[in-house]
Amino acid sequence: MKESILKVLDELEAQSALEKGRKVDVPPEDRMLAITKDTGEMLNMILRLKSGKNMLEIGTSTGYSAIWCAEAIAENSGQITTIEHNPNKIKRARENFEKAGLSDVIAIKEGMAADILTELNSQGKYLEFFDFVFIDADKENVIKYFDLIFPMVAAKGVIITDNMLYPEKYRPEMKAFSEYLRKNPRLRTITLPVGNGEEVTIKIK
Ligand SMILES: C[S@@+](CC[C@H](N)C(=O)[O-])C[C@H]1O[C@@H](n2cnc3c(N)ncnc32)[C@H](O)[C@@H]1O
Repeated sequence: MKESILKVLDELEAQSALEKGRKVDVPPEDRMLAITKDTGEMLNMILRLKSGKNMLEIGTSTGYSAIWCAEAIAENSGQITTIEHNPNKIKRARENFEKAGLSDVIAIKEGMAADILTELNSQGKYLEFFDFVFIDADKENVIKYFDLIFPMVAAKGVIITDNMLYPEKYRPEMKAFSEYLRKNPRLRTITLPVGNGEEVTIKIK
């Protein structure tokens, strides 16, 4: 891995550990709430196995998960579109992408996820376009986001959703999401006990 990327990932992991241990005072809306390192490694490996090119992320925060993914996707000359509404986090994510040398690989769409997904859907060019999606924003809207995203996912595309198991406060939303997925005959899905619990879903024909 390039030194510039490793350095930014290390810095973000250190900041995340401080925030999780409540060793720094950060307002709740500005906390990173980043994926775990092993989740980052898993996303990176799946993208490599798939030779992923066109990725969509819901919930950029300060860019930790996007950087893990961009490290793999850059090798396929691919692109990540990532959605975030918090201006402080967007600014920090842009700085992190710049420092990692990944600004060309990652485009941030600023605004509310439901609005942006509706807009992307209305532009016919994204129909079955994304081969990899990572859902990691507000949990109460996870089913809504999935429904907006599904037409834009290519056959054999992978959708990964964070926080299926932790924090426990999200269990009701994530249980409803899990049950919703399992009723859909157009996909295969499994909950993996990696990080905070990752749902790995594949769109089948
Ligand atoms: C769990 S964090 C994402 C962490 C990031 N994926 C990472 O691992 O580095 C969720 C992010 O989603 C953003 N978010 C929450 N609701 C949103 C919405 N309705 N539209 C856009 N972004 C939203 C939050 O501001 C927050 O930064």
